[in-house]
Order: sequence, then C-alpha cells, then structure tokens
Amino acid sequence: MVKELVIVRPDDWHLHLRDEDLLPITVNESAKSFARAIIMPNLVPPITKLVDAKSYKHRIMKALKPNLSFIPLMTLYMTEETDPREVEKGFMNGLISAVKLYPAGATTNSQSGVKNFEKIKPVLEIMAEIGCPLCIHGEVTDSNIDIFDREKVFINTVLEKIRTDNPTLKVIIEHITTKDAVDYVIAGKNNLAATITTHHLAINRNDLLAGGIKPHFYCLPVVKREDHRLALVEAAVSGSPKFFLGTDSAPHLDHDKESSCGCAGCFTATNTLEILAHIFEERSALNKLELFTSINGAEFYEKNINTDKIKLIKKDKPVSFPKKLSTPLGKITIFKPNFETKWQVLA
Ligand code: NCD
Ligand code: ZN
Repeated sequence: MVKELVIVRPDDWHLHLRDEDLLPITVNESAKSFARAIIMPNLVPPITKLVDAKSYKHRIMKALKPNLSFIPLMTLYMTEETDPREVEKGFMNGLISAVKLYPAGATTNSQSGVKNFEKIKPVLEIMAEIGCPLCIHGEVTDSNIDIFDREKVFINTVLEKIRTDNPTLKVIIEHITTKDAVDYVIAGKNNLAATITTHHLAINRNDLLAGGIKPHFYCLPVVKREDHRLALVEAAVSGSPKFFLGTDSAPHLDHDKESSCGCAGCFTATNTLEILAHIFEERSALNKLELFTSINGAEFYEKNINTDKIKLIKKDKPVSFPKKLSTPLGKITIFKPNFETKWQVLA
C-alpha cells in the first residue's frame, strides 16, 4: 500500500483571495501547498483595469510571509466595456494570464459582468489572436432556467456560439459540475479545458440538502446529483490534459453563510490536497494526482511546470484539520466533506 507520495508542487487554477484584512490569511493558506494560482478578479469593485490588477498583485505579494513563495497569476474581469488593447497589453507584458467572463448576476460580485455577449466580440477576437485564455463561469442567469440546469444550458447556447465564432480561442470552463460539461470538454479540441473543484469532487446535492441545509456546502455552480459527481471524479482521475484543479476556494465569513440568504462559496485552500489524495486513492489513481494538480493546468496555460515538490504521507488514523480560520473580520469555516482522509501534506 502506498504510504508516501511525492509530486510536483501543485498550482490552483481558480482561487479567490479577496482583499485587505483577509489577504494575510488567504494568501498564506494557499501558499502552504500551491506554487501559483489564477486569482479571481471579483472584488468590489472588480479588477477591470491593468492598473487595478497591478496594485492587487502588489497587495497579495505584500501579504505573503517571507518564508513562503507564491506567484499570483492575475486576471481581468470582463465587462461590456473591456478594451481589447488593454487585454492585449496586459497579456503580452505578462501582468495578466487570463480574462474572466462572468455572465452578469451569475455569482458573487458578478453584477458588472456581461449581459450582451455581442459586445465582447472584439475582445474575444484579440484574445484568440494572442493566445490569451478565457476563463468562464459557465451558467446562464435566466431566472426561468432551473438552477440545476444552468450550466448545461449555458454550454449549449452561449458557450457553443462563443467557440464557433472564435475557433482558436483558448477556453476554460471553470468549476464544472455536470456530466454534460465533462462530455462537452472531451468532445472539444485541445483549446478547450475545464477546471474541477475539490468540493465538486467530494460532495453531491444530497450532502447539501438532505437532513437539513448545509450552508458550508453551498457554492455556485451548485453541486449536482451523484452521477454528475462521479463523472467529475472520472474526468479528474483520467489523467486527460483537459482537466485540472481549480479549487475555487472562496472565503465568506460564517455569519454571511449561516444566514437567511447565505453566500455561495466553499473554503478549501487548507485541505484540498489531503481530500484529493483520498478521492484519487479510492479510485486507485494516486498516480494521476500529479497530472491533475500540477501538470495539466500548467501545460494548458503554457507555463513552466514547477520545479519543487511536495510530499504527502498516509497516516494510520484520519487526519484532523482546524474547523475554522480566524480572520480580523470573523471566522471562516474550512470545508469538511462527509468522509475523512488519512493523507497529510508535509510542511
Ligand atoms: C465564488 C465567490 O464567492 O467569489 N463563489 C462560489 O460559490 N464559487 C464565485 C464563483 O466562483 O462563482
Ligand atoms: Zn470562483
């Protein structure tokens, strides 16, 4: 039985760090395990300009403890006013690694996102030309569409058109939640990929809803039924270069989640690798963990593979993690699935 696993240090291809008082906590929590992360731009106000991305990057680096290393890969938040020249400049000079597209109203702080997809045509054209990846929150926002169907409908309507109009554009469908998305990504060309989160691999909608509502399992896109979760696990452990880890670790204070209108987001930065090792081992796929966490994403983004390694060891007993993270603003609950893991990352 494997008791020790050494893998290339992972990257997180979808991460929310927030800002100000939370940064010293969130940045260092991710930096313990991850070398780099794609930093989501959904701050208030959002990161829509290069000057904002530059100063946000600076604040992130300032919050990093001197004994840790971490590279934030910045993104711009697409609006209907995004200037193609701004995107071109930021991507070509290396400040940004991708542009993030939120359909307006799809999720936390997405109000400034896109309503009319015709308006972003010139930006998408330039992105296709220069090879800048588009990260997509893939859900429609039409209130007539059932929340469990919003990803599938987005793919069939909005995304398919974007990809047909821009056949060379690099697209990442983020935090996929359905078998439909898995099949769509597999059927696409090599310029189409998807990130999968820790929590979508670990829980289904019964975990969220049966026996009482669990606000700390609520995220967007919402978790789906078990056969969809199994399709995601299958995709993750397959080793296919089209699937890689984007934790979507998204801190919200407990009082904002445990409320009559709770915020969406699971905080998984602390124990993602331990949870993933358990899931991959269950599928006899520990040898594919490194591809999912450390190789496939870097190759899709055309970045170097990290040179340093991390070690995971398997304990005789389940490992326990802190339940909460203390921040100057209040507590944040650390994601805890309904199973235990014996794996632990060695510091
Ligand atoms: C994210 C957040 O809180 O910023 N929430 C979430 O449920 N995933 C936004 C997002 O990625 O949808
Ligand atoms: Zn997210």
